[in-house]
This record gives sequence, C-alpha cells and structure tokens, in this order.
Amino acid sequence: MGYKTREWRNSMRVTLDYNNMTEKFLGDKGFTDAQLSRYASKANEAFRYVKENRGKDELYMGWTELPYNQKEIVADIQQTAREIRKNFQYFVVLGIGGSALGPIMAFNALCHLHYNDLPKFKRKGPKFYVEDNVDPVRMRDLLDVIEPEKTCFNVVSKSGATSETMTQYLIILDLLTKAGVNVKDNVIFTTDEKKGNLKKISDECGGIKSYVLPDGVGGRFSQLCPVGLLPAAVLGIDIVGLLAGAAYMDSICNKPMMRHNPALMCAVLQVAAMEQGKNVGVMMPYSDNLKYLADWYCQLWAESLGKNETLDGKPCNYGQTPVKSLGVTDQHSQVQLYTEGPYDKVVTFLSLKKYACEMPIPHGCENIPDVAFLGGHTMEELIQAENAATAYALTKAGRMNYTLWIPELNAFTLGQLLFLFELQTAYAGAMLNINTFNQPGVEEGKKATFALLGKAGYAEKKKELDSLPEKDEKCII
Ligand code: PA5
Repeated sequence: MGYKTREWRNSMRVTLDYNNMTEKFLGDKGFTDAQLSRYASKANEAFRYVKENRGKDELYMGWTELPYNQKEIVADIQQTAREIRKNFQYFVVLGIGGSALGPIMAFNALCHLHYNDLPKFKRKGPKFYVEDNVDPVRMRDLLDVIEPEKTCFNVVSKSGATSETMTQYLIILDLLTKAGVNVKDNVIFTTDEKKGNLKKISDECGGIKSYVLPDGVGGRFSQLCPVGLLPAAVLGIDIVGLLAGAAYMDSICNKPMMRHNPALMCAVLQVAAMEQGKNVGVMMPYSDNLKYLADWYCQLWAESLGKNETLDGKPCNYGQTPVKSLGVTDQHSQVQLYTEGPYDKVVTFLSLKKYACEMPIPHGCENIPDVAFLGGHTMEELIQAENAATAYALTKAGRMNYTLWIPELNAFTLGQLLFLFELQTAYAGAMLNINTFNQPGVEEGKKATFALLGKAGYAEKKKELDSLPEKDEKCII
C-alpha cells in the first residue's frame, strides 16, 4: 500500500472500544466473556464465508475488491473531475438510495459544512447538489438556484428504470434541449456496463460519457466505485485516500478471530444484542460532518438485514431498526429515551479524537458561575466531554454502547469507516444466514407505483389495488 507512510497510516487507525457492552461496565445488562465466546465459531464461519466469496459478482460481493481494482478508473475520474471543475459552475447528482446516500455522505464528511455558500475561490469545485427525491417543490427550488447550461448532471442508476431518477432525467433533458444544449456536453451517466436503460439512451445519443457501476456491486455498497468517486473527485476529495483507507481497514479485518477483527466484533456485538431483543441500533456521531454517514449506514444496515427468509428458505423476521442521532444535538431530544426507555437499543458512538479546528471559548460573564466555567476551554473539549458524559450516563443506566474512535476526519479514515461498516454488514448477514445483498421488500411498493401511473405490464397489479375494500369513514377522523 503506497499511501503516505506506514507510521502515518497507523496513527490514523480507526479503533473499536466495546468495554461498555460488557458485564464489567454494565453489570448483568452486559455480555460476559463466556456469552461472547459462544459466538466465536459462528463469527469464524461468517469470516470464512465472506473471505471465500470475495469479489464474486453473482453474490454481489464485488464491493470487496473496489479498493484494489480501480487504478485506471480513478485516473479517468480525476481527469474528468478536473474538466468539470474548469467548465461547470454546478454539479448535480440525480439518483436515489444507494446511488445518492454515498455522495451526500462524502460531501458532508469532507467538505466545508457551508460549501455551497462559500465564495467560488474558496471552493475546490462547482456548487454541489444531490437530488434524491421527487418532491416537486425540491425540483422547482433546485432549478431556481442552478443554471442548467452551466451544470454537469451526473445521472446515477444501475437499472436506468428507477422512476425517481428517470423522472429527474426527463425534466433535465427537456430543459437542456430547450436551452439548445447537447445533452452529451452536460450529462454523465453512472450505470451498468452492458444493460439498463441509461446504456440504451447513451447508445441512442451517440455515446454519453458513462462510468460503470460494476455488476457485483449493489447500490448500498457502491460508494467506493464511480457512484461515489466521481462526485467526490469533483469536490476535490482525495479519492485515492478513500480507497487506501478502505484497503487499510480490509487488512486490519483480515483475521478470523473476532477479538482481533473490529468489523467482525461489531457484527457479533450487534447480532448478540439483537438476539437479546435489542431491535434498535442508534448510530450517533459526535461530529456534524458525520451526520450523513449515519444516514448512509442506516440504509446499509436496514436494507441488508431486514429479511423474512433465511438462505435455506426458513421464515424469519430479522433486522434491527437503525436510527441516526447526532451528538450533541440529540442529547437534548433522544438521549432521555435511550437512558430510561426500553432496553431495546445499542448505541454506536462515532467519536473524533481531534476535530479539524479548535474554537477557544472566551472568558466572560465572570459573575455567572453557570456560564463562567466554560471560558478558557475549547469547543473541542466541550463536545468531547459531552460525548464521554453521554457514554457514561448510558453505561450507568445499563444501556449497551460502544465507540468507534476516529483519530481525525480525512479521506483515509472515512474510507476505513465505510469498509468497516460494509464488512460488519456482510458478516452479520452471514451470521444470520440471510441474503444480505438483495431487497425484495422494496419491490412491492415499486410495482404498485408503476400500476398507479399506468405503466404497461402492470394492469393486474392495478386490478389488485382497485380491489382493496372501501375505506371505512369511521377510521378517518
Ligand atoms: O441499495 C440499493 O440497491 C437501492 O437503494 C438502489 O441503489 C436504488 O433503488 C437505486 O437503484 P438504481 O441504481 O437502479 O437506480
């Protein structure tokens, strides 16, 4: 691995501290060593399953190889990103789900929190928007702040059949055409290499610049392929560092013993907690930059583990409801519930050892002790103290929590976190013996939408919808 020095990489290692899941800190609410050890062989099998199936497209395990097999793609993306930064004032991602949450997450994690409000000379790239909804107000409002002819639109869809993304595309296509702009000049596709509608559209237009969303990479595991890398590069994010961080975490997790493999241990802790009825997984970063990492994680964890059938066809209802919570903000809304409500949660803290800047708190209000004690500290000290205090309060109340310690937030540590969560999810799915990589539960709603909008081939579904009983007036109050 040629990214910076070994010493630097090791100084940036993300670590797991799960003391607050154990009997020593939680008393009878925590895991004993023996309880955890009972998962060792299951964990070992999950490790072996993931290792043996790495890179297999047919199992949607292609994401494991993304840190290693994209040298040429990365060079191409960097070149394209340079041209976009030179030629465009706006960059808009059109996509949804796995095609949007990754770009949103990286943007918020590694760019200025008010990036779009910065003057041009302070930004590394064009103004940046990710449109992951079909709320007409949002589309109208986007069109109020961009100039389509000065905008590069990155349409991200593996299938090219996702109604939301393709609706947005139709609106943009119409606008560009009316403005006399050749769609090829302002649009980039990220899509399947061989099939899918974007491929067809590109061929019909004589070739729209397209990046490949590889066959074996599902939407929610796609941040480290062109889906996430192109928007990140346009923003000036170090995409080589992101991939190097992922590879580094991969090397750390290349151990079959759960006590030496942080992703495997996270999977064990969560599965063991789920088996004790902890149906809610709270992801709580103490960093505004990581707020949307929690969103990205929520999709990864929810869609991957929420399944009603095991791989050998047995009915089940697995999954854990992921909840995003922001430290310290949500201390003032949700932490009351976490501390005194039902014992149904595991809280994962994402804690920074060092923030990107210090903000000294000036002395003042010396005759008001409630305020004066803050003077002379820094905001970093305050947020870290509140993080430690919340972990303490939860632990004292017997609530399971663990911490992922991040030395500082940069592309390398973000890459580590992404890969850790992806591995954790794959291990957990293997331990539960489910298909981690499909999402059949999303299909029914999609089909009903097609039927309601009169798509060909959905007449039967429309009949099914029409045959629902009349709504009971007494239930509408
Ligand atoms: O994780 C997933 O697979 C989904 O969230 C998809 O990314 C989402 O439905 C978008 O699909 P597509 O890329 O085909 O437009």
